[in-house]
Order: sequence, then structure tokens, then C-alpha cells
Amino acid sequence: MSTITITIDDQKIETQEGEFILNAARANGIFIPAICYLTRCSPTLACRICLVEADGKQVYACNAKAKEGMEIVTSTDNIEQERRSIMEVYDVNHPLQCGVCDQSGECELQNYTLELGVDSQSYAIKDVERAAIDWGHIHYDPGLCIVCERCVTVCKDMIGDTSLKTVPRGSDPLDATYKESMPKDAYAMWNKLNKSVIGLTSGEAMLDCTSCGECAAVCPVGALVDTEFMYKSNAWELTQVPATCGHCSAGCQISYNVKHESIENSNDKIYRVMNEWNYVSLCGAGRYGFDYENRGVSKDIAMFEKAVAALEKADTISFTSMITNEEALILQRLKEQRGYRLINPEAKSFQDFLAAYSAISGTMLYGSDLKETHDANFVISVGTALKSDNPNARYAFNNSMKMNKGAGLYFHPVADPVIEGLGKNVMSIYHAPLQEETVLYLILDLFADKEKLPQEIVNYLEGFHSTKTVVVTESIKEELIESITKIVVDEETGEEKEVTEDVKKMVAKKVEKEVEVESNALLEMLGAPDNFNDALAKFLKKANAFSLIVGPDCYTHPNANNIARLCALIEKYSAFKLVMIPTLTNTLGVSLICDLDDEAGNYTVGYNTEGDFTLSALGEGDLDMPAMNQQEGTLTSINKRVNPTNAALAYEGYELNDLANAVGLESELTIDYTEHLPIERGFKAEKFDDLPNHYTNEGVEVRGYLLESRGVKTDSDEHVDEIDSNLTLEEGEIIYLVNPVRQFTAFTNKTEQLHTDGGLYMSETYLKESDLNEGDTVVIATSQGELTLNVICDNKIDGAIACLPTFDSKINSEALFSDYRFTSASIKKV
Ligand code: SF4
Ligand code: SF4
Ligand code: FES
Repeated sequence: MSTITITIDDQKIETQEGEFILNAARANGIFIPAICYLTRCSPTLACRICLVEADGKQVYACNAKAKEGMEIVTSTDNIEQERRSIMEVYDVNHPLQCGVCDQSGECELQNYTLELGVDSQSYAIKDVERAAIDWGHIHYDPGLCIVCERCVTVCKDMIGDTSLKTVPRGSDPLDATYKESMPKDAYAMWNKLNKSVIGLTSGEAMLDCTSCGECAAVCPVGALVDTEFMYKSNAWELTQVPATCGHCSAGCQISYNVKHESIENSNDKIYRVMNEWNYVSLCGAGRYGFDYENRGVSKDIAMFEKAVAALEKADTISFTSMITNEEALILQRLKEQRGYRLINPEAKSFQDFLAAYSAISGTMLYGSDLKETHDANFVISVGTALKSDNPNARYAFNNSMKMNKGAGLYFHPVADPVIEGLGKNVMSIYHAPLQEETVLYLILDLFADKEKLPQEIVNYLEGFHSTKTVVVTESIKEELIESITKIVVDEETGEEKEVTEDVKKMVAKKVEKEVEVESNALLEMLGAPDNFNDALAKFLKKANAFSLIVGPDCYTHPNANNIARLCALIEKYSAFKLVMIPTLTNTLGVSLICDLDDEAGNYTVGYNTEGDFTLSALGEGDLDMPAMNQQEGTLTSINKRVNPTNAALAYEGYELNDLANAVGLESELTIDYTEHLPIERGFKAEKFDDLPNHYTNEGVEVRGYLLESRGVKTDSDEHVDEIDSNLTLEEGEIIYLVNPVRQFTAFTNKTEQLHTDGGLYMSETYLKESDLNEGDTVVIATSQGELTLNVICDNKIDGAIACLPTFDSKINSEALFSDYRFTSASIKKV
């Protein structure tokens, strides 16, 4: 794309060739009314209010692309007339219930009605019964709906669920009189409002999607609202606290909406979470899992003293990555000063993986981010249950399929209907557990530049190729001579006689024949479908921007070191850009800041994980700590961005910083550590209060800062080990350590809207083929231990691998696994 100059209302502006006029205008602070268009999604042309004149022709600004030298006028008499009529049509029959409507105060219908000066109504639509519908966590009121289709578009283009569509409203035949009297675009709008409302693609009564709430977030009016928030508060009563979501490594920008609990109780409460939906899409955990604060805590001096004594006695601090960078630095400083061992197995495996990757790449950090996945048109995902590990990575994957007409390969052992639902251009390859190494070798084989790849690897890859003879069935046309006997009348005698003649006919016939075909044993090892090569060739026809996503199954694999080196080779010798999903919220930050150890010592203080003495933001330990929504600090995201987060709610108890000060560190506030985050690990010496947290009108992310990827000493060679063919799971059922959508940790599960009991998640297919039913109690036994759980039927997975979650603190799922997230087990009904 090249930079071009266009003129909008006599103002010369620069933009990229092919950019929509609307985006170019917005980026330069020029206002063009627009209702249905969502940045990052495809234009739907549902509202038509963005009319402008480009080089003398009327076009829709959200859909018309800028060209060099284009002259654009945003307002003419005709355009103003159309816009005014469109707004009148939108206002037809719109119930005057603004006083109680959830959207009031932030309603685009209110704004545009005022903006365009609509103070009278020229049109009418005969109304029909349009009762409000409860779709579970979302409430739809068709009476308020202006059928702008933003909800439909965001669900399809951004989220990938495609759960909503327009459906017939049921109405009288159209009154043709308006056709003559109305401006053309306003008439089209009037026509649409007569005929349509929003419905569910599933045809069911309830929404069965991944429940992100993005449709309600983008709805410009009060037609789609979060059921729990409905009628709870007016928008103007809520204080906006800019923050960063604390649930996964996506680090989404959010805003906690806070006000007092009630007239009697002046304590603050979070009522909802909002997002800048044009630039960031939340998942259901980010949107609905906000009330996990550690409530009612005060300073318990006696327990604090016990905590100090425990720290003085301890030789180990064990913790999870649900902490800020500043807290990680406090722990590291404590280690340096007092010699603690720091134990965090999940961050340690990521840290080791990054180190092994760096030994070949020469860079401290993987090279890409989810923005580049969004912009790619060929994406591969390996070693991650994408929809659960990092929903934003799934959105990026989907966005690349929908917006860039891209294609993708999803390699994972657990069959996933949500990923399959992303479209025909996604092929899922459900390989056996422990085959992630094979997948990466396959990527090298298919995509690496063999001229440059180390010869040792090229030779190894060649060994997988062979030709083999296969029998194929072919349809051929064969000539057949058929004798036909006819009765003819002799012209001379008039007698009838039989005559036989031969007739040639072509008949279709199936024949089997032997042909030599190229065979790639790597594909066979992965159980790739027979049409893999044909499909791939089709997918790659227009591909020119490649993204590879790798996830936690790779970091915990017994050959993680080799897998990391393979990832670095792919990044170095192919066009793929690499992004790694950090396992938990701040796994990347922790792995950069802390020197982590493998083995605990004799006495452990646990932070959000069990220890001999436990500090807990969940309120389950010996001394309470603040939860993430009660803290200031920074979090390092998958996009290698250090994002600030603010405290939405007050916390009256002790913090880690108080304990650290009591045993020898000195810092008034936790955020005093922000400017001391290690520069040699890519952080910057910036003060917390100087860190911004917003997006510009152009969609530029002005949040915190980006880590610098420092150079790292590389190994002298690029050797990688061959695939270890002896590596298999023991005989038995297979279970996978993963959470269902909308759950990440005990913090998400502590929240009112997401709280649920965990269990053994099994697909409908699995249950059908076994003697188990939902609700049955089973004993799951592995070589590491045993658990008794209830069976939960999960229609968001398929196939015969059962899933064990980590979000329910009553279930110690991790104890059944060694490191790798798959293990074999016996599952017996009790
Ligand atoms: S529900 Fe809201 S977003 Fe969806 S079409 Fe109606 S007004 Fe638009
Ligand atoms: S909640 Fe999310 S997934 Fe469900 S319909 Fe709305 S946008 Fe689609
Ligand atoms: S914003 Fe362009 S048609 Fe709706």
C-alpha cells in the first residue's frame, strides 16, 4: 500500500491507498456520521448514513476506497436530506423509554437524532408485536432495534461464532407511497426496518455461543444488553476506571464501570466492564468476570506478623503468574537479598522455552504479535486450545480468515467445533498427543527455504518423502458395440423382417489402476486428511502474509527444548512470523523479571498458591492480599506490551510490598517499582503515572510501552533433535488440562456471573459412545493420582478426549499431570 493524498472538505490529508474514506476521515479528525460500520470488520451498508460525494459521485464512506487525488465532500443538500430522512426512519416507532433504557446517555440514536436536528417525523411504519426476548446472558428488545447489523457483523467477522442473523419481522406488505416521496437511501432503510429483526442462526430459543457479550457492547441503542446489567444503572452515574484485563495474556484494554453499591452502602462496586470495541474485542471472562476482588479485608496485624515470621523462616516463595510486573520484581529483589527459591512451574516452562528459542533466533522475544496475525492471510496454530488459552488469538485467527480472505491450519488433538465453525478455509488436523514436534517439522518441510535451512535438517526431512503405489478408481468412457435387432418392412414385398445391426455406444465405466504418488510420512504420522495437499494448495494460492501461533502444549512437552528450537528455525527460514501464547496473565512478565527455580526448598510461602504459609488474593489463605482489580501496576501481554492497570476498588489490607518492606526492602508503593523494571530484559525506566492507556481515533494503541527485544547470544550450531518416535502416552483414555471458554483461573470462577462447579468435560460424541451420561460421577486415575468428579457435557469440544479444568480450586487437576497437558488415564463410573 502506498501513501496517497486526498481532499476532504477542502482539507488535504494523507492516507493509504485502498483505505476506506471513513477511516481516513476519522484518522484526521473529520466527522462523517456512521452507524453500522465497525473498524476491523467488513462494511455491511446497513445504515447508509455515511453518504459522501467523492469526485462528484455519491458513495458510502465506509465502503468506498480512497484513491490518489480524490476530492471528497461530506455534506451536500441531497446528502443532508438523505441523512435527516434516515434518522427519521430510525426514530419511527422507537419507544420513548430513554429514562429507563440502559443505553441512555451513550446511545447513538439519541446522539444522531440531536446531531441531525430531527425534531419532527414524516414517516410511519405499521408496528407489529415485537416482544423482548431473553437469550440467556443477552437480552434482545426488537422494539429498540434499528437493524444496523453491528451485532451480526461483529459476531461473524471478529468473534467467529456467527450466532446472529437478520430474520423476517412479520409485517404487512409495504406501503408503496413512500417510494416516491422518500429519498432513495432512506426508503431502502425504511424498507429494511419494515421487514427485519435480529434472530439466532441456530434457530434455538437460547444463544449457544462462546458468550463474549461483544454484540451487546457494539449495539448503538439499548436493543441488546447484558441481562445481568439490565436496569442496574444509568451510564452517567458510573465512574470509568481504565485498566487492563487480568484474566489472560491478551492484556485487553478495559474500563471498569464503578459506583456505590446502594443508597445504604457507599462502598464502591463494579457494575460492568466496557471496552473500546472498535479496537479491542473482549471475551466473556473479561466482560463478565469482573467482581473477583478480595472483599471486606482490613489490616490483621497479628496475621501480618505471622506472615513476616513465615517469610523469615522460608527458603522458597511459590507463586502464580496472576501478579503484576511490580510484584514479580519485588519477589526477584527478595530472592536477590534473602536467597529465596522462586517457584512458578508454568512460568518456568515458558521461560525455558523462550531461552531455547533465543539460542537460535538470537532475540530475547518471539518476533510477532496478534496484530500481525490479524493482518496475515495464512495462519497456523499449534499446541494450543486457541479458544480457551487466549480468546484474542482466536479472534485474530478468525479476523484473518474473514477480513483478509485468509486460510488456516489448526493442529490440535482435541476436536473443536468452534474452530471448525470459523469457515471452510480452516482445516483442523486432530493429531495424537505428543506430536507437536512432528507438526513443526512438517511446517519446516512445507514452508522453509531449503536452500538456506541447515543441510542436516534438509536431509532428515527428505527421509520422510517417498513415492508409493496406490490403487485409484477412475471413471472412463468405453466404446461398446451393441447389436440391435429391429423389425423392418420390406419395401418391395411389404413383408416384415428382422434386421440386426451393430451400434457403437460410449458407456461410463469405473476402473482401478495403480499410480505412483508422492508420499509424506509426516502427514501420515499426524493423521492428516487425504485431501490435505489439495486443500493446502488452494489455501496458499493468494497467501503472502504468514503467521504461526504456538501455545502451552509446546512449553510443557517432554521435548519442549527441541520444539522451541524448531519454532526459531521456522521463523528464521520461512515467511512465518511467530507469536507465542504466554500461559497465564503475566507469564511473559514473570519469565522476564524472575530467576525461577526448579525445586522448592523446605519451607514455602505461597502467593495465590498453596504454601506452608499462604498469601491469597482469593481470600483462601492465611493472610489476604489484593486481587488484580484492587491493584495498580503493569502487566506484560502476548503483544509484548507493558500495560498499566488501575485499582477499580479500594483495598484496606496488607500488600506484598508491605511484607517485602518488613523483611528488608524499601519502597513506599508497589508502583514505585515500575520505573525499576529490568531494562536489560526489555523494560523501560518509566514511571507508572506516566503510562498512557487509550486508543487514538486512528486505532493506534497508546498503552504503556512495547518491550524492546534485546539480542541474545546464539548457539554455535542450529542442531535440532530428530522426532522421538518412542514418545507416546500409555494405553488408556486421554485427558487434557484446559479450561472451558470463559474460565481461566479461580479468579474468574469467583465472579457472580461465571461461577460454576468444575468437572470432567466430555463431548456429546464421547458420551454417546461410552456408558457415561452428564452428571455421572467418575473416578479419574493417572500415574500421578486420582480424582472423583462429575461428568459435564460440553458441546464446545468434540471427539474422545476429556478435558479437566484448572479454574475450580476445589479440584486439584494439575496433580494428575506431570508437566505435559495431556496424559493417559482410566475413567471409571462410580
Ligand atoms: S440489536 Fe443492536 S446492534 Fe443488532 S441490529 Fe439491532 S440495533 Fe443493531
Ligand atoms: S455473545 Fe459474542 S459470540 Fe455470542 S452472539 Fe454475541 S458476539 Fe456472538
Ligand atoms: S456506516 Fe456506512 S453504511 Fe452504515
